[in-house]
Amino acid sequence: METRVLEVAAGDAAPVAEAAECLRQGKVVALPTETVYGLAGDALNPTAVARIFEAKDRPRFDPLIVHVADWAMAQTVADCADPLVAQLAAKFWPGPLTLLLPKRAIVSDLVTAGSPLVAVRVPAHPVFQAVLKSFGGPLAAPSANPFGRISPTEARHVVAGLGGRIPLVLDGGPCRHGLESTIVQVVDGRLELLREGPVSREELRAFAPVGHGGERAAAPGQLASHYAPRRALVLVVSADDVPTRAGCGFLAFRSVPAGFTAVETLSPTGDLVEAAARLFAAMHRLDDAPVTRIYAEKIPCEGLGRAIMDRLTRAAAEAVG
Ligand code: TXA
Ligand code: MG
Repeated sequence: METRVLEVAAGDAAPVAEAAECLRQGKVVALPTETVYGLAGDALNPTAVARIFEAKDRPRFDPLIVHVADWAMAQTVADCADPLVAQLAAKFWPGPLTLLLPKRAIVSDLVTAGSPLVAVRVPAHPVFQAVLKSFGGPLAAPSANPFGRISPTEARHVVAGLGGRIPLVLDGGPCRHGLESTIVQVVDGRLELLREGPVSREELRAFAPVGHGGERAAAPGQLASHYAPRRALVLVVSADDVPTRAGCGFLAFRSVPAGFTAVETLSPTGDLVEAAARLFAAMHRLDDAPVTRIYAEKIPCEGLGRAIMDRLTRAAAEAVG
C-alpha cells in the first residue's frame, strides 16, 4: 500500500477533507496531536478499529483511547456524570488529559478490550480538531508507531514505522508536548494516575487526592517494556558511569559529553518542558546512529521529569531485559 503524506497547516481545508473521507470509508489515517501522532480510525466502525490493531501489530488486549471534539461528543461515548469529571474536563480539555469513564453501549468491546471503561480525551491540536469536526464522530487513536516502539512526534517517524501499512499521514509538524497524554481514572472522589504525562501529578492534586493506580487499575498497555529503541538502552546517573564511549550513543539531559559516537542533549538549560518535547525525536535519531548501545542519563523525578523517566525506564526494560 502506498502511504501518502500531506502537509497541513491550521485552516487548510483540503487535506482535512481528504482525511475525513478516508475515515468515512473505514480506513485509518495518522494525524498530529499536541502529544504524539495518533493512528485514527472510526471508533464506532469495527472494521476500522480492527485495521488500527492490524497496522500497529497491537495485541487485542490493549484498548484504544477514543478522541472526541468536545464535551458534548464525550457524553455520546461515556458517562460523564461524576462532578469531578466535569471539573477536570473544564480545566484540561482540550488538552493532554485522558479520562477513564464508564463506556456507553455504542462503544464496542474491541475498542476497550472488553473493559466497561473507555479512555476518552479531547485533543487540542487544530488539525486533529478539524478532522474530528469534519468527520463528525469519535475517533479511536493509539500512538502511530508499531506496537512497543518509540512514539512518533514527527510525521517522518510515522512513515518510518508504518509506511506501506497505512494510506495517509497528515503532517502538522512536530508535536508540542512530545509525550503521550496523562491517563487518570476517577474512583470515589480520588484520582488514580495510570500513566504520567504532560498534565502532572501536582496539577491533578489541586482537584482530588492522587493515587498511583493499583495493580488492578493499571492501563493494560503500560507494560514494563515499551517505547523501545532497536539498540540496547541503559540508564546511568551521568556520562561518568559509562565504561567505553566509542561506538555508543548518549542521551543527555543538560550536558554535552565528549567521546561518544552520537550525543543528544534534551535541554541545555534544564527545562523539563523542552526536554519532554525533544525526547522521542532524540531517541529516534540515536536509534538511527551507527551505535551498538545507547546510554541515557536519568532525569530529575519532579513534575514532567517523572513522565520522562517513566518512558526511559520502559525503553530500558525492553532493551536490556
Ligand atoms: O497522547 C495520547 O494519549 C496519544 C495520542 C494519539 O492521543 N495516544 C496514545 O494511545 O498514547 P496509546 O494507545 O499509545 O496509549 C493508550 C494507553 C494504553 O496504555 C492503553 O492500554 C490505555 O491507554 N488504555 C486505553 N483504553 C483503556 C481502557 N479502557 N482501560 C485502561 N487503559 C486503557
Ligand atoms: Mg502508544
